[in-house]
Amino acid sequence: MSEVDIKALVKPGASEVHRDVFLSQSVFEQEMKTVFRRTWVYVGHDSQVPKKGDFTTTTIGTQPVIMVRHSDNTIQVLLNRCPHKGVQLVNDPSGSTGRFFRCPYHAWSFKTDGSPLGIPFKKGYEDTGFDKSCAKKGMCNLKNVKNYRGFVFVRLSEEGESFEEFFSGSLSSIDNMIDRSPEGRLEIVGAPLRYLHHCNWKMLVDNQTDTCHPMIAHESSAGTVKKIWEAAAGEDTSKPMSKPMPKPMVVELVLPFMSSYETFEKMGIRTWDHGHGHTGVSWSIHSEYSDVEGYFISMVEAYGGERAEEIIAETRHNTCYFPNMMVKGAIQTLRLFKPIAADKTIVESWIFKLVGAPDTFLKRTAMYNRIINAPTSIVGHDDLEMYERAQEGLKVDANPWVNMQRHYRADELGGERVHPGTSEVQMRNHYVSWAKYMSAGDEV
Ligand code: FES
Ligand SMILES: [Fe+2]
Repeated sequence: MSEVDIKALVKPGASEVHRDVFLSQSVFEQEMKTVFRRTWVYVGHDSQVPKKGDFTTTTIGTQPVIMVRHSDNTIQVLLNRCPHKGVQLVNDPSGSTGRFFRCPYHAWSFKTDGSPLGIPFKKGYEDTGFDKSCAKKGMCNLKNVKNYRGFVFVRLSEEGESFEEFFSGSLSSIDNMIDRSPEGRLEIVGAPLRYLHHCNWKMLVDNQTDTCHPMIAHESSAGTVKKIWEAAAGEDTSKPMSKPMPKPMVVELVLPFMSSYETFEKMGIRTWDHGHGHTGVSWSIHSEYSDVEGYFISMVEAYGGERAEEIIAETRHNTCYFPNMMVKGAIQTLRLFKPIAADKTIVESWIFKLVGAPDTFLKRTAMYNRIINAPTSIVGHDDLEMYERAQEGLKVDANPWVNMQRHYRADELGGERVHPGTSEVQMRNHYVSWAKYMSAGDEV
């Protein structure tokens, strides 16, 4: 697809985006060759592979990869393909391979950095030119891997922006999530909640900073929780509470979804170059969770009073990392929107433990994930229905444009900027970057 074609799909500033961005399989295939090759894509967290030989499997775009802890303790990322006839070396989501990978087809073996270890009955390859073959080199070990404080990213393409240039100030959201641990360490807990959505992956990305939908799309779920709570607590939001009673954790987590437009407007949105941005600049719907006994003291001991207060006060809402990841530092979750086809996306929702913090945090995080993001959740399905109805509704020929003009200003992007909280600026920021990576020439 040429540059002209991409420009025809995204209007200046991404104020409107053509429906083919979501519907077209050829656009999807181009994304796999460009966006998911040229950018730094999240692979996993190093706590998923704590011991030498531990591995986890995932995809970068549609490329299957293995993240493994090598014998020298480094994290290696290998393409999940036997160099012999292409068989996937491992097909479990995670496990331990010991000191080497052994292909189940003909037993070729490889060290955990992908280098060749052995081929049975090797003399059949003498004088065949095998030494010059791709197969001789072993498994493909990706060169551009960055382990940033435990978060592992890969850029498939040989060339492109450095990790630091690509993410710039947006790394502050990952930093804040990590710094919330008194030990400055996170650990993934369990497998992710994972389920299939019949829609384009970018609809989920757009939704993460769509602050005009919660009080509408989630009225049936969060609105019901609000009504039940008001009846139980005798609380009328228009008056002071007549019968104060402690909020159950689930109420505390779901109620903020019913916040007003004005509240979301005040949250603010911050954008950075290369398509990254977050909602909740100085305050967010995560700011008023109840205190957890003993936490502040342990943070003060670890960081000193001033820094501890600064870390805890930073309660960002959703930070979108281009192209397909979102982190929620104040609740320690990470969501990945993994593209399968133009109209199919696997969503993974992971939770982290704040190492050294009271168990209440993990309980809160796990409950949030279960209530909001699980296939059995009460909130996530509201969004799922909207995505799948959009995927169908966009087939109407009369209007091919998806509108993203809320609070649009022609000069709004560039460097680090702050915007009104109900602006669709982060969606536009995403598509401005998307168009750039899609149209920067052929695969590099
Ligand atoms: S396909 Fe792997 S050893 Fe033959
Ligand atoms: Fe939602």
